[in-house]
Parts: sequence; structure tokens; C-alpha cells
Amino acid sequence: MQTLDAKNAQIPILGLGTWELRGRDCARVVEQAVRLGYRHFDTAQLYGNERDVGDGIRASGISRSDVFVVTKVAPDNLAPGLLIRSVKESVGKLRLGEIDLLLLHWPNKGIPLADTIAALVEAKRDGLVRNIGVSNYTVALIEEACRLAEDRLVCNQFEYHPYLDQSKVLAACRARGMAAVAYSPIARGSAKSDSVLARIGKPYGKTPAQVSLRWVIQQGVGAIPRTSRVERLAENIDVFDFSLTDEEMTEIAGLAHPGGRIVDWAWSPKWD
Ligand SMILES: NC(=O)c1ccc[n+]([C@@H]2O[C@H](COP(=O)([O-])OP(=O)(O)OC[C@H]3O[C@@H](n4cnc5c(N)ncnc54)[C@H](OP(=O)(O)O)[C@@H]3O)[C@@H](O)[C@H]2O)c1
Repeated sequence: MQTLDAKNAQIPILGLGTWELRGRDCARVVEQAVRLGYRHFDTAQLYGNERDVGDGIRASGISRSDVFVVTKVAPDNLAPGLLIRSVKESVGKLRLGEIDLLLLHWPNKGIPLADTIAALVEAKRDGLVRNIGVSNYTVALIEEACRLAEDRLVCNQFEYHPYLDQSKVLAACRARGMAAVAYSPIARGSAKSDSVLARIGKPYGKTPAQVSLRWVIQQGVGAIPRTSRVERLAENIDVFDFSLTDEEMTEIAGLAHPGGRIVDWAWSPKWD
């Protein structure tokens, strides 16, 4: 599969999101995803499923070096001692050895970023994780974090789909040589009933969800759609055999609107 090459990391451009997948169902979906060609798996301490994701990967029989596993440090674990301890716990739950990419899940204004970044760099230096990055970082936070980490951050993961303009954050990632990875890339499923995406997909024999995913990856941005349904696993990875025209890419970008953001919490940073 095509990869996003950022510094020393090679991140498969399409991955499986696993939020809300739990227990044996989660392991079964992950195992099936490996069989269908998924090579990038996204979990988090907050999802409570790191053990299940690891179980699914091991059950598939794939060689460890052929999959790229991402987990995220919970915002409550960003104080340096807690960060290292929580990452050791994540490694213990996943049971896959070194984590391929560790992200700070959300910024936390209550803890100095310099302290958190120092601990993140330490997790890499100590061999707990191969690569480090951030999630839900704005342009200003990207700049600050990159400076503190002396440009060792390889990725920012953030909400991105046709209904949300993220051109500023995308530009900041590119300027810093960081991979951009889109979460909620089919807008939590709402792309499936979009008439514009349906019309554009029809001549290609593709569903609106596939058009949404293609639009993301065709910009050189990663996408981590989640599904609990095996038939949709196959649908969501079947996006590499067609290309959207420049006009179609522009028309889809035009679906963005000010209320398009889905994921917004009390602790969210001030978005760009
Ligand atoms: N860093 C962060 O703060 C953050 C925040 C949010 C998400 N994420 C990550 O990103 C992943 C994906 O984002 P997301 O889960 O928010 O949203 P998403 O992947 O855009 O959408 C998932 C929803 O769409 C449905 N769906 C999946 N494939 C479909 C298809 N082909 N046609 C129609 N419906 C489809 C799923 O339902 P079924 O299960 O019924 O198929 C599910 O309800 C998460 O699982 C998580 O790993 C990270």
C-alpha cells in the first residue's frame, strides 16, 4: 500500500480506526482487516481496546514488521512520569513490541507542553516507540511542539472530511514535513447519503463513502475510517483503483461549511 513518508516514518496511507470497537468483536474486525490488506491500525489509551487490537493483529498471523500500529496518550497522562508509565502499559496491552507511532491525543492546557514533549522524546529514546507525533494540534500548537521536539514529530492526526476545511492545518503539517492523517474521514458515516458524492462516484462504480476516502488520500493525506462491519472493511479499502479529476476534487472541497466540524469538546483548542 502507498505510504506517507515523513522523516523516518512510513505510514500506510489507509488504516483502520477502532474507536468504540471492543473485545472479541474488535479483535475479529482487526484480524479480518489484516486479511483484506489493511496495514495501519489506530487505537488509543482512551478507547480501552489496545489489548483487543493487539489480539486481532496476532490472530491474523501477519508478521509484526508488516503492520503499523498507532496509539495515543490520554490527555490525563501528559505529565512526564504518567506519560512514560502509561506508554509502558500500552506496550503491555498491545503485546506487539515497540509501538510504531505514539501520538499525544489532545492538547492539555493544564500541563506545560515542554514537559510533555520531553517525556514523548524520552519514550522514543528508550525504545518504547519508533515515532512520535500529535493529534488535534492547531497551527500554533504544531509550531510550538515542533520547536520543542526539535522537529522529531512525524504526524498530526485531526478531523478531516469533505465538510470541514482544514487547509491551514494541512499547510502547517506540510511546512514541517509532518504526515497529516484524517480522522472521521467519512464524517462519521454521514458521507454515505451525500448526493454530490453519490453523483461523482456513480461513473466509477464507487459509493459516496469511497469517494470521500479517495478525496482525502488523493491529497496525500492518510485516512483511518472505522467500521464494525466486515463488508464495509472491504468497501473502505477499495479506493486505489480510480482517480478523481481536478474538477471533482474542487467540487468536493466546496462541500465544506462552517458547521462541518463533528468532534469538538470542552477541552478542544481554539481551532484554526
Ligand atoms: N485523534 C482523535 O481525537 C480522534 C477522534 C475521532 C476519531 N479518531 C480515530 O479515527 C477513526 C475514524 O473516525 P470516526 O470513527 O470518528 O468516524 P468515521 O470513520 O468517519 O465513521 C465511522 C462511522 O461510519 C460508518 N461507516 C464506516 N464505513 C462506512 C461505509 N463504507 N458506508 C457507510 N457507513 C460507514 C460506521 O458504521 P458501521 O460500524 O456500522 O460501519 C461508523 O458509524 C476512529 O475510529 C478513531 O480511530 C481519532
